[in-house]
Amino acid sequence: MAFKFSDKYLKNVITENDLDGIAGEIASAAKMLDEKSGKGADFLGWTDLPVNYNRKEAERIDKAAEKICNMCDVLIVIGIGGSYLGARAAIEFVKGNYYNESKKSTPNIYFVGNDISSSHLSAILEICEGKDICVNVISKSGTTTEPAIAFRIFRDLLYKKYGESAKDRIFVTTDKVRGALRGEADARGYESFIIPDDVGGRFSVLTAVGLLPIAAAGINITEMLEGAAAARKDFAGGDVYTNDCYKYAAIRNIMSRRGRKIELLAVNDPALTMTCEWWKQLFGESEGKDGKGLYPASVTYTTDLHSLGQFVQDGTKLMFETVINVDIEDGATIPYDEQNADGLNFLAGKSLNFVNQKAHLGTVLAHTDGDVPNLSITLTSKSAFDFGYLVYFFEKAVAVSGYTLGVNPFDQPGVEYYKKNMFALLNKPGYSESKAELDKRLSELA
Ligand code: PA5
Repeated sequence: MAFKFSDKYLKNVITENDLDGIAGEIASAAKMLDEKSGKGADFLGWTDLPVNYNRKEAERIDKAAEKICNMCDVLIVIGIGGSYLGARAAIEFVKGNYYNESKKSTPNIYFVGNDISSSHLSAILEICEGKDICVNVISKSGTTTEPAIAFRIFRDLLYKKYGESAKDRIFVTTDKVRGALRGEADARGYESFIIPDDVGGRFSVLTAVGLLPIAAAGINITEMLEGAAAARKDFAGGDVYTNDCYKYAAIRNIMSRRGRKIELLAVNDPALTMTCEWWKQLFGESEGKDGKGLYPASVTYTTDLHSLGQFVQDGTKLMFETVINVDIEDGATIPYDEQNADGLNFLAGKSLNFVNQKAHLGTVLAHTDGDVPNLSITLTSKSAFDFGYLVYFFEKAVAVSGYTLGVNPFDQPGVEYYKKNMFALLNKPGYSESKAELDKRLSELA
């Protein structure tokens, strides 16, 4: 197995007694999840997705991906939050950070609609000049402002460029019946994929939300689902002592109760930086509510050891660290140099991974000495299967951890607040009353 969870660096920090103390709570949380009896039980579709996934839908996704590969140089993927992070994380995890620059038969993939930055969008529009384009617009609600604006711009571009046949280049992933996007897809005849009702945005990477862009990048989605299915099997049953997913949920809650309110997810391969972004949404949105929750932060090592490393080592003791150690030999070695002006001949012939592993071990020991408790996950490959496995491990862990914390891990009421203010300030019909109030508040601040 390419995935190994370990709490060995917590030896003197978390004792058998500590685990005994929380074992019952974790068991109850796991039971709630298994029996679908906890809060948010309507959103547990993700638990069985890897084994229940509609094979016909998967085949249709593969066919659409093939069509996209044959039809375009550039695939624009429009979405935000759960409708964005998972696909990008998967593509970078499996294909690396330079997927778009590598020689391949799949289109370049750019993600838009995940911010409202004018310059970001303009830069991508410039890249699209003279290229054949397809669009995959993804929104569960079908009404989210950021992707809706981006889609309006790209739909306009496609219709101007291709006329009515533009509709064959637009692929929609949305709700079965609800939302503006569903209405438009049906009216204009775009090919569309359904986001199941019982799968929330941040748990949706293994639905068409993630799978279509992932397949368009030439990644085997069946293998990814198989990885998730393997994790589903490996992390079923057992207890905090035998099930690493439950142990991880237990340790997070113990840390939180000790005042370690930040979990720092550290990776030592930039191909996993976007996986951290996906993980931050999963954990932040699932647990950060009712005045509770650990703040999910992330770093990429060794890069960030030269910036945030000082704080982690020596700063306020707010955090514990979960390190994903990527331990893969890919052949890159350090050459011998006759002059040895840099004094690096002691590393000649050694692989970069050998050095990275020593950096990882040195960092773990330094941080534990600095009173930053460390958990580790080792990955010995970065296949589609491994990504699926990791996704399921974290999804199940956050569900159990969230129930143990006493929150509903499957809602996100806080996300609506900024939207209401933004709509009012933009003069959206129906928001005039709050607009007057917000304008008054802002003028008082001026
Ligand atoms: O997890 C969530 O529900 C959110 O982050 C959503 O994924 C995000 O707001 C995008 O929503 P939608 O897919 O409806 O456009």
